[in-house]
Amino acid sequence: MSRVTLIDIFQHPVAQKYVKRAGLAHAVACAYHAYRFAVEKNVDPDLACKAAFLHDVGHYTWYNNGEWDYNMYKENDIHAIKGAERAHKLLIRLGEDRVNAKQISLAVLLHTDSFLPEKNIQREALQEVVASADEADEEPDGKHHYRNMSDERAERLLSQLDRRIEVYQKRELKEPVSF
Ligand SMILES: [Fe+2]
Ligand SMILES: [Fe+2]
Repeated sequence: MSRVTLIDIFQHPVAQKYVKRAGLAHAVACAYHAYRFAVEKNVDPDLACKAAFLHDVGHYTWYNNGEWDYNMYKENDIHAIKGAERAHKLLIRLGEDRVNAKQISLAVLLHTDSFLPEKNIQREALQEVVASADEADEEPDGKHHYRNMSDERAERLLSQLDRRIEVYQKRELKEPVSF
Protein backbone atom coordinates (compact mmCIF):
# COMPACT_ATOMS: atom_id res chain seq x y z
CA MET A 1 0.00 0.00 0.00
CA SER A 2 1.45 3.37 -0.94
CA ARG A 3 1.89 5.98 1.75
CA VAL A 4 -0.81 8.62 2.29
CA THR A 5 1.18 11.84 1.94
CA LEU A 6 0.91 15.22 3.63
CA ILE A 7 0.04 16.58 0.19
CA ASP A 8 -2.85 14.07 -0.11
CA ILE A 9 -4.14 15.32 3.23
CA PHE A 10 -3.63 19.00 2.37
CA GLN A 11 -5.51 18.68 -0.92
CA HIS A 12 -8.57 17.01 0.60
CA PRO A 13 -11.54 19.41 0.89
CA VAL A 14 -11.94 18.66 4.63
CA ALA A 15 -8.36 19.78 5.32
CA GLN A 16 -8.73 22.72 2.95
CA LYS A 17 -11.65 23.97 5.02
CA TYR A 18 -10.72 23.09 8.57
CA VAL A 19 -6.92 23.24 8.62
CA LYS A 20 -7.17 26.70 7.07
CA ARG A 21 -9.74 27.75 9.69
CA ALA A 22 -7.18 27.27 12.46
CA GLY A 23 -4.27 28.58 10.36
CA LEU A 24 -2.38 26.92 7.54
CA ALA A 25 0.97 28.48 8.53
CA HIS A 26 0.59 27.13 12.09
CA ALA A 27 -0.23 23.64 10.78
CA VAL A 28 2.77 23.57 8.42
CA ALA A 29 5.14 24.98 11.07
CA CYS A 30 3.96 22.36 13.58
CA ALA A 31 4.50 19.58 11.05
CA TYR A 32 8.12 20.76 10.63
CA HIS A 33 8.70 20.97 14.41
CA ALA A 34 7.15 17.52 14.75
CA TYR A 35 9.57 16.05 12.21
CA ARG A 36 12.54 17.39 14.16
CA PHE A 37 11.25 16.24 17.55
CA ALA A 38 10.19 12.84 16.19
CA VAL A 39 13.65 12.09 14.79
CA GLU A 40 15.22 13.19 18.11
CA LYS A 41 12.87 10.96 20.13
CA ASN A 42 12.87 7.97 17.80
CA VAL A 43 9.20 8.38 16.96
CA ASP A 44 7.82 7.65 13.48
CA PRO A 45 7.97 11.07 11.73
CA ASP A 46 5.22 10.05 9.32
CA LEU A 47 2.71 9.77 12.18
CA ALA A 48 4.09 12.80 14.01
CA CYS A 49 3.94 15.10 10.97
CA LYS A 50 0.42 14.02 10.02
CA ALA A 51 -0.85 14.48 13.58
CA ALA A 52 0.90 17.85 13.90
CA PHE A 53 -0.46 19.07 10.56
CA LEU A 54 -3.99 18.04 11.62
CA HIS A 55 -3.82 18.84 15.36
CA ASP A 56 -6.12 21.90 15.20
CA VAL A 57 -8.48 20.56 12.52
CA GLY A 58 -11.34 20.50 15.06
CA HIS A 59 -11.54 24.24 15.69
CA TYR A 60 -14.84 26.02 15.61
CA THR A 61 -15.22 29.79 15.15
CA TRP A 62 -16.40 31.54 18.31
CA TYR A 63 -17.39 34.96 17.04
CA ASN A 64 -19.80 37.30 18.79
CA ASN A 65 -20.91 40.37 16.79
CA GLY A 66 -17.95 39.91 14.47
CA GLU A 67 -15.41 39.77 17.33
CA TRP A 68 -13.61 36.70 18.58
CA ASP A 69 -15.17 35.81 21.95
CA TYR A 70 -12.40 34.27 24.02
CA ASN A 71 -14.62 33.51 27.03
CA MET A 72 -17.15 31.69 24.89
CA TYR A 73 -14.30 29.76 23.28
CA LYS A 74 -12.79 28.79 26.64
CA GLU A 75 -16.12 27.63 28.02
CA ASN A 76 -17.28 25.65 25.03
CA ASP A 77 -14.24 24.57 23.05
CA ILE A 78 -13.76 20.86 22.34
CA HIS A 79 -11.44 21.24 19.33
CA ALA A 80 -9.16 18.39 20.37
CA ILE A 81 -12.09 15.95 20.57
CA LYS A 82 -13.66 17.18 17.36
CA GLY A 83 -10.27 17.24 15.63
CA ALA A 84 -9.44 13.68 16.64
CA GLU A 85 -12.65 12.44 15.05
CA ARG A 86 -12.32 14.64 11.97
CA ALA A 87 -8.68 13.68 11.41
CA HIS A 88 -9.53 10.00 11.76
CA LYS A 89 -12.38 10.17 9.26
CA LEU A 90 -10.25 12.09 6.78
CA LEU A 91 -7.32 9.68 7.08
CA ILE A 92 -9.51 6.60 6.66
CA ARG A 93 -11.12 8.15 3.57
CA LEU A 94 -7.66 8.71 2.10
CA GLY A 95 -6.77 5.05 2.72
CA GLU A 96 -4.52 5.43 5.77
CA ASP A 97 -3.64 2.27 7.64
CA ARG A 98 -6.15 1.85 10.52
CA VAL A 99 -3.53 1.38 13.22
CA ASN A 100 -1.80 4.59 12.09
CA ALA A 101 -5.10 6.45 11.84
CA LYS A 102 -5.89 5.62 15.46
CA GLN A 103 -2.45 6.68 16.69
CA ILE A 104 -2.61 9.97 14.78
CA SER A 105 -6.13 10.59 16.05
CA LEU A 106 -5.09 9.98 19.67
CA ALA A 107 -2.15 12.38 19.28
CA VAL A 108 -4.61 15.02 18.00
CA LEU A 109 -6.90 14.33 20.96
CA LEU A 110 -4.13 14.71 23.52
CA HIS A 111 -2.24 17.68 22.01
CA THR A 112 -3.89 19.86 24.65
CA ASP A 113 -5.52 19.32 28.01
CA SER A 114 -7.77 22.35 27.64
CA PHE A 115 -10.95 20.28 27.45
CA LEU A 116 -10.21 18.12 30.52
CA PRO A 117 -11.46 18.86 34.02
CA GLU A 118 -8.12 17.69 35.43
CA LYS A 119 -4.81 18.52 33.78
CA ASN A 120 -2.86 15.35 34.25
CA ILE A 121 -2.38 13.75 30.84
CA GLN A 122 0.27 11.03 30.68
CA ARG A 123 1.38 11.23 27.07
CA GLU A 124 3.11 8.54 25.03
CA ALA A 125 6.14 9.58 22.95
CA LEU A 126 4.22 10.37 19.73
CA GLN A 127 1.63 12.38 21.67
CA GLU A 128 4.37 14.30 23.48
CA VAL A 129 6.11 15.12 20.18
CA VAL A 130 2.89 16.55 18.76
CA ALA A 131 2.07 18.56 21.92
CA SER A 132 5.64 19.96 21.94
CA ALA A 133 5.44 20.85 18.25
CA ASP A 134 2.26 22.83 18.92
CA GLU A 135 3.86 24.58 21.87
CA ALA A 136 6.97 25.42 19.84
CA ASP A 137 4.86 27.40 17.37
CA GLU A 138 2.56 29.12 19.86
CA GLU A 139 2.50 32.91 20.02
CA PRO A 140 0.89 35.11 22.69
CA ASP A 141 -2.88 35.78 22.32
CA GLY A 142 -3.29 32.96 19.80
CA LYS A 143 -1.52 34.98 17.05
CA HIS A 144 -0.13 31.76 15.56
CA HIS A 145 -3.63 31.02 14.24
CA TYR A 146 -3.60 34.17 12.12
CA ARG A 147 -0.29 33.97 10.25
CA ASN A 148 -0.88 33.62 6.53
CA MET A 149 0.59 31.18 4.06
CA SER A 150 -0.29 30.72 0.40
CA ASP A 151 -1.40 27.33 -0.90
CA GLU A 152 1.64 27.28 -3.21
CA ARG A 153 4.07 27.76 -0.36
CA ALA A 154 2.26 25.20 1.80
CA GLU A 155 2.38 22.65 -1.05
CA ARG A 156 6.07 23.26 -1.60
CA LEU A 157 6.92 22.90 2.09
CA LEU A 158 4.70 19.85 2.61
CA SER A 159 6.10 18.03 -0.39
CA GLN A 160 9.65 18.71 0.90
CA LEU A 161 8.60 17.26 4.24
CA ASP A 162 6.99 14.24 2.52
CA ARG A 163 10.29 13.63 0.77
CA ARG A 164 12.21 13.82 4.07
CA ILE A 165 9.79 11.37 5.71
CA GLU A 166 10.13 8.94 2.81
CA VAL A 167 13.94 9.11 2.91
CA TYR A 168 13.82 8.50 6.69
CA GLN A 169 11.50 5.50 6.23
CA LYS A 170 13.73 3.99 3.55
CA ARG A 171 16.78 4.40 5.77
CA GLU A 172 14.94 2.68 8.63
CA LEU A 173 14.06 -0.21 6.31
CA LYS A 174 17.62 -0.14 4.88
CA GLU A 175 16.24 0.33 1.37
CA PRO A 176 18.31 2.21 -1.25
CA VAL A 177 17.50 5.90 -1.47
CA SER A 178 17.46 7.46 -4.95
CA PHE A 179 17.94 11.21 -5.42
FE1 LIG B 1 -4.99 23.18 19.60
FE1 LIG C 1 -2.21 24.55 17.71
